[in-house]
Amino acid sequence: MTNKDYFVHPSSFLDDDVQIGEGTKIWHFCHITSGARIGKKCKIGQNVFIDRDVRLGNNVKIQNNVSVYRGVTLEDNVFCGPSMVFSNVINPRSLYRRDIGEYRKTLVKKGATIGANATILCGVTIGESAFIGAGSVVTKDVPPYRLVYGNPANIKGWMCECGEKLEFKATRAKCYECGREYEKLAQRIIRRASNDSHEKPLK
Ligand SMILES: CC(C)(COP(=O)(O)OP(=O)(O)OC[C@H]1O[C@@H](n2cnc3c(N)ncnc32)[C@H](O)[C@@H]1OP(=O)(O)O)[C@@H](O)C(=O)NCCC(=O)NCCS
Ligand SMILES: [Zn+2]
Repeated sequence: MTNKDYFVHPSSFLDDDVQIGEGTKIWHFCHITSGARIGKKCKIGQNVFIDRDVRLGNNVKIQNNVSVYRGVTLEDNVFCGPSMVFSNVINPRSLYRRDIGEYRKTLVKKGATIGANATILCGVTIGESAFIGAGSVVTKDVPPYRLVYGNPANIKGWMCECGEKLEFKATRAKCYECGREYEKLAQRIIRRASNDSHEKPLK
């Protein structure tokens, strides 16, 4: 462990070779397995399983009853709603072993939210600040800043980094909540706020 400046409830188990960043809180009945790397200021709710070698960025929030399986990576500021489900094998069979080379990787990019009870099929990338509605089944990549929901999850709109819906007028949108401004340009979205502008690819 890197330091002791974090909290782990006594009912939770940490295996050997786990790293936990400063300010992180791990609540009741969790199991963090060997090789896991958890960033700073994360909140890990009750009954969460973090599999071998999983990487969590900083300020990741994981609500109750979530398993983050091997092959899943969560970047900074990702939110996982209660009882949402990751996977890492696309065609599991009890009788036929799948080895680690067959696991498909799942990447959840920074600022993305996954709603309660959603299921994420393995092998997908969820883009920066994307938003997955509650109960959705995500079967393919979700572009940055997109709102998707349903089974299968389909694109329903745009979401601001702050979590409010964005409405584009022609190529521009301004969040009524936080004032961030966005501009769509062909296959790209550009956030136009002067102090934090950057480009994000669209699919
Ligand atoms: C997706 C979400 C952000 C709302 O998006 P929205 O576009 O503003 O949705 P609206 O409430 O305007 O509903 C629009 C339509 O989508 C449907 N809808 C909304 N959320 C849905 C979802 N998750 N799955 C399927 N359909 C959904 C509504 O029933 C409505 O359908 P209708 O047009 O036939 O009446 C919200 O419903 C959601 O799922 N939030 C996640 C909450 C959560 O999991 N929190 C976890 C921590 S507590
Ligand atoms: Zn906003």
